[in-house]
Amino acid sequence: MPDLMEQITSLAKRRGIVFPSSEIYGGLRSSWDYGPLGVELKRNVKEAWWRAMVQLRDDVVGLDAAIIMSPKVWEASGHLEVFTDPLVECRNCHQRFRADDLQGEPKTCPNCGNHTFTDARNFNLMFRTHMGPVEDGAEDVYLRPETAQGMFVDFATVQQTSRRKVPFGIAQIGKAFRNEITPGNFIFRMREFEQMEMEFFVKPGTDEQWHDYWIQERLRWFTDLGVHPDNLRLRAHDADELSHYSKRTVDIEYRFPFTDWGELEGIANRTDYDLKAHERHSGEDLTYFDPETEERYHPFVIEPAVGVDRAILAFLIDAYRVEEAPTAKGGTEKRTLLALHKDLAPIKAAVLPLSRNERLVPAAREVFDLLKPHWMCDYDDAGSIGRRYRRQDEVGTPFCVTVDFDTLDDRAATVRDRDSMTQQRIPVASLVEHLRERL
Ligand code: GAP
Repeated sequence: MPDLMEQITSLAKRRGIVFPSSEIYGGLRSSWDYGPLGVELKRNVKEAWWRAMVQLRDDVVGLDAAIIMSPKVWEASGHLEVFTDPLVECRNCHQRFRADDLQGEPKTCPNCGNHTFTDARNFNLMFRTHMGPVEDGAEDVYLRPETAQGMFVDFATVQQTSRRKVPFGIAQIGKAFRNEITPGNFIFRMREFEQMEMEFFVKPGTDEQWHDYWIQERLRWFTDLGVHPDNLRLRAHDADELSHYSKRTVDIEYRFPFTDWGELEGIANRTDYDLKAHERHSGEDLTYFDPETEERYHPFVIEPAVGVDRAILAFLIDAYRVEEAPTAKGGTEKRTLLALHKDLAPIKAAVLPLSRNERLVPAAREVFDLLKPHWMCDYDDAGSIGRRYRRQDEVGTPFCVTVDFDTLDDRAATVRDRDSMTQQRIPVASLVEHLRERL
């Protein structure tokens, strides 16, 4: 269903959800900007993750580590050596590709159809830059390719200052950067993206049980937020695709229209690889002492890791529908709907005066002022009321509150539900309570 992606990309651009970065200069293929509605959607996705992973638990704490870390981190973690993809160049058009992305036998250049390529060489995906005013190698630093390393290098400080006992987790949301050879498919594969990662430190021997636990928890997070279970599946990595640090990784895959199934989130058993590596390279003790059993050990780590942008793409695809809706005149018309979970919807309620009549506007403004301290609301008075409902439907606004001439007498407004399109007359004085019960 490739045109579904076109429809979603076009809706995202048309409504200022996500659009190409630096577009007045022709854009930058792998960078995308989130507009006024997109930034709300993104905040909501991150908020939902933080709530589930940190706020509602007593065994996970948060962290916000620096993007530019000591270059020694990447030496210790193995990223300098092995965070690579096999790169080949077409001998005819000189375009570069990931060797494992090339299709056909013999392998065919997707750009010019040629069949001869250079030998594959390992291309490191980390972005390198210089710290300070000197540009020689001594000052080379890297933009982090994963947020995870912050949790490993800060493990001892966080454990001691928060006085946590194993098992416990450290969670972080933040930007990560990868110089991907083939970015694309809208916000699926970017060079600058955001990750939501949690490192859960457990006693060795209990790691497999905790791994299974987190796989189920993370799957449930997506279905609780409305993703259809038929569009999700679990897939264990084969031995030859495991990351250098992983004993077992299970991906939550989503039925993306462009790949059939594609990785949405990875849940890895990173063992004690990272803590031991940092201990070796830094000389700092990164063991944990269990005061109850009086044992000292390197905890094993279970890591659920998901991209914010990739999760947003899955939520958008899952929520997108085009359906026939009845019109006021008794016919039907097409309506585009983003049936987003209410927690994710960028705008929770739109206040719509029936017209720009000078008596209606103050009443509608009053309703807007009443609702906006509680939720992100929109005020829209442009165009016919039907048109305005459609505009809110296609960005997923769960409720529209219409103020009409009757409002001036009965102090009530019409609340329209996005999904059922049913309308209910609710006293203005009870609007907050009415919406709170439903949001
Ligand atoms: N710390 C482990 C780690 O980074 P990963 O599977 O490479 O594991 C985790 O990345 C998640 O980050 C992926 O499942 C995906 O959702 C997201 N992700 C990875 N690379 C991405 C990219 N280039 N663009 C957007 N999201 C990406």
